[in-house]
This record gives sequence, C-alpha cells and structure tokens, in this order.
Amino acid sequence: MIRRPRRLRTSSSIRKYTQEHTVQAHDLIFPLFVVSGENRKIEISSMPGIHKMSIDNILLEIEECVSLGIEAFILFGTPDTKDALASSAYADGNIIEIASKAIKAKFPEVWLIADICVCSYTDHGHCGVLKNGKIDNDLSLDLLAKMAVSCAKAGIDTVAPSAMMDGQIEALRSALDKENLVETSVMSYSAKYFSSFYGPFREAADSAPQEGDRSTYQMDPANSKEAIVETELDVAQGADFIMVKPAMSYMDIISKLNDAFDIPLVAYNVSGEYSMIKAAAEKGWVDEKKIVSELLLSFKRAGANLIITYFAKDFLNSSKS
Ligand code: PBG
Repeated sequence: MIRRPRRLRTSSSIRKYTQEHTVQAHDLIFPLFVVSGENRKIEISSMPGIHKMSIDNILLEIEECVSLGIEAFILFGTPDTKDALASSAYADGNIIEIASKAIKAKFPEVWLIADICVCSYTDHGHCGVLKNGKIDNDLSLDLLAKMAVSCAKAGIDTVAPSAMMDGQIEALRSALDKENLVETSVMSYSAKYFSSFYGPFREAADSAPQEGDRSTYQMDPANSKEAIVETELDVAQGADFIMVKPAMSYMDIISKLNDAFDIPLVAYNVSGEYSMIKAAAEKGWVDEKKIVSELLLSFKRAGANLIITYFAKDFLNSSKS
C-alpha cells in the first residue's frame, strides 16, 4: 500500500494541521429579535436560550457577543402594531430604525443586517401585499423598498430581502441608489425554500400567515435547478451576497451555488434546525456541543462562507472551555 490516508490521522496535532475547513467567530452572524419598550427579555418557548429583547437588553447582548468575537447581527423587528400595508415596517420611528441608531451609537463597527420582509408587520402575516386573496408581487416591491431605505437611513449596513418577490433585489438597489445610499449592500435570500423548518421562528416573530401559506412565493423543496435561476436573477440585479435557507437539509444547494457563483454565500441555519438539536440535547440523546460544531463545519465544507445561526454564542462559548 503506497497511500495510507490514516497516516494523516495519527495524532491530534496532525489532524488539526490537515483540517480543510474551520469555523471561526467571523463566520457567524447572530439573529436578534427586537421589541419595543425597556427592560424586556421574553423567552421564545420553542427556541430555548433565544429571547425577544428591548433595545437596552439588545445592547447588552451585543456586548457579550462582541466579547466572543461575533460582530455581525441580523435584526428582526417584532412591532406593536400591524396593518394590511405593514406601515410599522417603514414609518418614522419604526422598531428597526430605533434599534439600529442605538446600536450604531454604541457599537459603530458592528455589521448590522436587517431582514427585509413584511410578514411580522402585516395583519394577515404574508410577506407582501394581499390583493383579492393573492400576493401582489409588484405592489409588494414598493413596501420592501421603503423598508430597506428606512433601515439604511438609520445606519443598517446591509439589507436582506427575504420575501421571495420577483425583482426584489433590483427594487431595493434602485430605491437605495436614488437616496444615494450606494454603500448599503444587499444580502439576498436568493434560494429560500417553502420550509416547515421555520416553525419556531414564526412563534418568535408572530409572523405565521392567517390564511393560506407561502407556497406561491417561496421555492418548492423538490427543486434544485431553480435555485440557480433564482440566484442568477438576484446576482444580475445587484445582490452582494447570496443565501441558501434552510441550510441543514439543503447542503446540496449550498454546494451547487458555491460552484456556480463567486460572491459570498450565506447559509441560514434556521429556527427549526436549532430547536430540534436543543430538544434532542435536553433529552440527553445527542451531545449538543459536538453536534453543533460538526453541523457548523458541515456548512463550511459544503461551501458556505458565512452562517446565520442561533448557535453562534453557544458555539463560541463552548469552544472557549
Ligand atoms: C421572514 C423570515 C422568516 C425567516 C427569516 N425571515 C420566516 C418565513 O419566511 O416564514 C425564518 C428564519 C428561521 O426559521 O430561523 N420572511
């Protein structure tokens, strides 16, 4: 035998030095759910360890994250009021505007990303404007663009449209450019699937549709070539980042997009993926620390450059010990 792959596994040091991939703090983006008021920290029962927080507590959370090396956050607003046109998503003084200004005042260097979608802000819970019982794609673009401009004016560095409306990247890019917000980047949820793995998030963001589902705008889990089509369109429209969501059951898509595109690729390790592991770990069925590090490594191996994950803090805390 000339080739013996086991030679490279003979000691922990050789194994470390021959690792092809690693997960570092700067690969991880931590989601934050923002609520109004003060001194509020509301546990999300389906996502142990994750809370909706008022801005004072968000600032403390960011401070803790920064001490662990996490400097990127994606913000989700959970507003007090909802209406058919999601006005609380873009009205003056909206929750993300206030949060962004407060965070940037204290932590000017952190990378702030805002999820751009109206499902938490509409009374019907859909990601766009409902007209005669259907989502009107082009009317929805106006709302998304308004929301993105409001976020960018408040200091958000990157807007991340997740509504899966056709043309949303172009709509945001041109609205931002018109306001001279040329440095605001766009992170497209380019391949976002119609997935049941978002269940716990919808409890957190109170964003489940009142009627119907999201199958007319999010992608069918049966499809893979379509991920290329969606992503090509978004790149042509000016996306600075592309994304696969969910991540765990869609590693093939991560790998495909990594082969096909040269811009940074994000994997979104979604709420249901988080909660399943938390639940199994609570029962003692899996070793959470080991399984999480294997999971995050798998996203990197599949080709993701960045990972949005609720495990970011846990992972870095446990790799310290
Ligand atoms: C908004 C949005 C959702 C998630 C991120 N942005 C919910 C959805 O599309 O229903 C899900 C994130 C998660 O499950 O962690 N549209």
